Amino acid sequence: MPGVVIIGAQWGDEGKGKVVDLLAANASTIVRFQGGNNAGHTIVRDGEEFKFHLIPSGILYEDKTCVIGNGVVVDPRVLLGEIDGLRRAGVGVGDLKISANAHLIMPYHVLLDTAGETKLGKHSIGTTRRGIGPCYADKALRLGIRVQDLLDEKILRTKIRAALEPKQQALRELSVLRRKRLKEAGEDAKAVSEPAGDGPDPRIDLHTMVEEHVAYGHRLEPHIADTAKLCWDALDADETVIFEGAQATLLDLDHGTYPFVTSSNPVAGAATVGAGVGPTDITEVWGVAKAYATRVGAGPFPTELHDETGERMVDQGREFGTTTGRRRRCGWIDLVALRYAVRLNRIDALAITKLDVLRGLGPLRVAVRYRSREGAVLDSFPYHQSILHSATPEYEELPGFDEEIGECRKEEELPRAARDFLAYIAEFTGVPVRLVGVGPARDQVVWLD
Ligand code: IMP
Repeated sequence: MPGVVIIGAQWGDEGKGKVVDLLAANASTIVRFQGGNNAGHTIVRDGEEFKFHLIPSGILYEDKTCVIGNGVVVDPRVLLGEIDGLRRAGVGVGDLKISANAHLIMPYHVLLDTAGETKLGKHSIGTTRRGIGPCYADKALRLGIRVQDLLDEKILRTKIRAALEPKQQALRELSVLRRKRLKEAGEDAKAVSEPAGDGPDPRIDLHTMVEEHVAYGHRLEPHIADTAKLCWDALDADETVIFEGAQATLLDLDHGTYPFVTSSNPVAGAATVGAGVGPTDITEVWGVAKAYATRVGAGPFPTELHDETGERMVDQGREFGTTTGRRRRCGWIDLVALRYAVRLNRIDALAITKLDVLRGLGPLRVAVRYRSREGAVLDSFPYHQSILHSATPEYEELPGFDEEIGECRKEEELPRAARDFLAYIAEFTGVPVRLVGVGPARDQVVWLD
């Protein structure tokens, strides 16, 4: 029963989509188990570029079942946009299944996300403003609207009405606060359209929302299913099921750099809850990490670079977000954090992506420990927020490489320095590097023994 989990081992954007796409060749089913359209990945296939936010990466195969699991939060408008885009590109979506238990991101969640971030001002988290946090909060409060609710107008109306009331109140308060702040700053409060004003906001009008969502339900109905059972059937038939994580370990709500995290659990263990399978259904865990490190949004990032090397990483790695277009913060690979991710997820194999980006950067640095503000040596990832915030990394310096590696397909074709760099990562983390990305295209990879 091969259940393979693939997760991000850093702060996201590691190139998981490409790894999932490659490993999916041997799978029957690919399941997203958490997050929502805060994620985004690009797959380049036969020169054509596909961008996904919600639909699992395996959709480009004709013979795979792709599942949006119960742990995902679904913005139905975004999902239907992706389905339409794939249809236009001639890609079939008949095998896309959506858990009836997945929660829906409603328009008020998006407004609340934006309003909440605005309220935090310079202390904001830097969310993607896609409504992720407020949607998961409603799920925990038992005020959520689920995919199955789209199929019953009466239930839908009752549930939206119940969920809406506290939102209107919260948005009104946030709006008043925002206007006050703008007034103090001498700005024109009337020119601001978000958050919703004092009057009724058409985006969160009960009647409009119910009508819109009933229509979404009609279109999504053929895809709505008991997706946990789909996974059991595949696993019981000895087929390979891939559980595809979004975001990454250090953005995990419990184990990441809280509060600068997302509102779900992107760690491997969460695949069981978010897809509806048992722990022993998981037989292998792959961690995906870049050959350097990036982060979007606020929060601690010990190896962040504010110099020319960091700029070159942004340029050479095209480090701009697929979802928000934001410039990513860049820095050297952090092996202290990676070793933490390896243990936390019990990673069996590493995929190191974007090795080509390090070309020509001179000697390569890898963070092997931190030093606290008081001078203490920290060999492991500190659990205390304040210690992590002020920790400075200490590096090992390894030889760099100037050769073009985009055409390499075998380990021995890689420059000596690149191989030594990979060997160092494997040795330090105690996990083999099995796959290396050497360029954006699907075939630009090197499989290692
Ligand atoms: P949220 O998930 O939109 O609530 O954002 C919370 C934090 O997670 C912010 O710092 C985001 O930038 C970050 N984040 C969310 N999704 C991704 C992703 O797919 N890649 C990288 N960072 C992400």
